[in-house]
Amino acid sequence: MAVALIVLAAGQGTRMNSDLPKVLHRLGAAPLLAHALAAGIALDPARVVVVAGHGADQVSKAVTKADPAAEVVIQTEQLGTGHAVAQAMPALAGFEGRVLVLYGDTPFIRSETLEAMLESTADITVLGFEAADPGRYGRLVSKGAALERIVEFKDASDEERAITLCNSGVICADAALLSRLVAALSNDNAAGEYYLTDTIALARAEGLTAAVVTCPEAETLGINTRAELATAESLFQARMRAEALDNGVTLTAPDTVFFALGTHIGRDAVIGPNVVFGPGVTIESGAEVMAFCHLEGCHISRGATVGPFARLRPGAELAEDVHVGNFVEIKNSILDEGVKVGHLTYLGDADVGEFTNIGAGTITCNYDGVMKHRTTIGANVFIGSDTMLVAPVTVGAGALTGSGSVITQNVPDSALALGRARQVVKPGLAPKLFEMLRAQKARRMKEGA
Ligand code: UD1
Ligand code: CA
Repeated sequence: MAVALIVLAAGQGTRMNSDLPKVLHRLGAAPLLAHALAAGIALDPARVVVVAGHGADQVSKAVTKADPAAEVVIQTEQLGTGHAVAQAMPALAGFEGRVLVLYGDTPFIRSETLEAMLESTADITVLGFEAADPGRYGRLVSKGAALERIVEFKDASDEERAITLCNSGVICADAALLSRLVAALSNDNAAGEYYLTDTIALARAEGLTAAVVTCPEAETLGINTRAELATAESLFQARMRAEALDNGVTLTAPDTVFFALGTHIGRDAVIGPNVVFGPGVTIESGAEVMAFCHLEGCHISRGATVGPFARLRPGAELAEDVHVGNFVEIKNSILDEGVKVGHLTYLGDADVGEFTNIGAGTITCNYDGVMKHRTTIGANVFIGSDTMLVAPVTVGAGALTGSGSVITQNVPDSALALGRARQVVKPGLAPKLFEMLRAQKARRMKEGA
């Protein structure tokens, strides 16, 4: 059965006390919105619609980044969750199947839970949870096993407020039905809003069936304040660490490793202490990342070793058995099998052929102040320590550059390239020079006194 997602993300999030729309605050190095979106996208939906309002331009950009196929509709006035869904329905015109409504500020919802909702045979299904402290959540009012309606806290009687089974906000129904129900909502309630939750009573009045699927409360945790965001971050990290350990990854000091949404690490990889992952990192089985590395937008293949103290930036592609050592920065560069970059090096916009050795202190001078240029280094090359490779430049296979060279011209295969001043040696001159310098120092101290 085809599935469509509607993600509600129009609210401002006043309690964040921020200029940034709430759903763009970061959790696991990704906007909050991307988390619920990822859980939904795991179901392979045919359509994705995000309802934006506050900061719609910024939200739009983040949505496109997370899912280029997603559509954004604007809700100019936030008249309630039911109104928000009604704004999304025209974008689903022609879609036949089930619609899942998610909140952009509820990042911990799991795709397994959403799948369970899709398996429900009821006409309309709500995701509920047993709340430790039901507070201001909407309450699920049932008669026996049948869900009758949802009552918002503001509108609830004392008896209804005593119910602990609460509404998470996630709802699932056939597209045509949902469209019809949200069009029929009224705002005659304590908040003067069009409540999505009223669709249950409307469906029941038509004799349709409504069901509740439940999940642990932790999954429905919404973010409303910076404090909640900080708590969510530590929960997210705890979950990612536990998942990595479960998947057979060694984390020497799990509490010091920070993951991002979508960090993917293969079995038997080893991650040392104090490693930070930004977005878009994949590490294959058996690779090792040593202490104090910062990795983002990169791919590390089987058998490769990185760090300690290395920084891999977006577009760093390390093939099998590559070795990247300390104080090395790599950006937008492809390192073929067995390349070694041991120490103090910057490789930016470079292609490096297999088994090439990059000496300590090598720098690809990729930026001329206006444009970026590529450096191409062939296989089995030896780049001498402290070589400056002024891009665009090519060093052919099997070539060698002398230490301290500034390479501004292409180097053919198997050539030796030297680009440095010739050394001058003056026998016996050192002691004289020292004597001169000491005299100078003594003079200065006297003048200073
Ligand atoms: C909602 C539910 C409540 C449930 C709770 C769970 C309704 C009427 N109430 O209440 O039963 O227990 O969530 O957290 O649905 N949004 C829009 N446009 C709007 C209004 C809201 O996009 O016009 C978005 C918000 O940005 C947010 C989500 O919908 O992501 C939920 O809205 P919010 O105002 O937080 O709903 P609650 O009052 O918490
Ligand atoms: Ca809320």
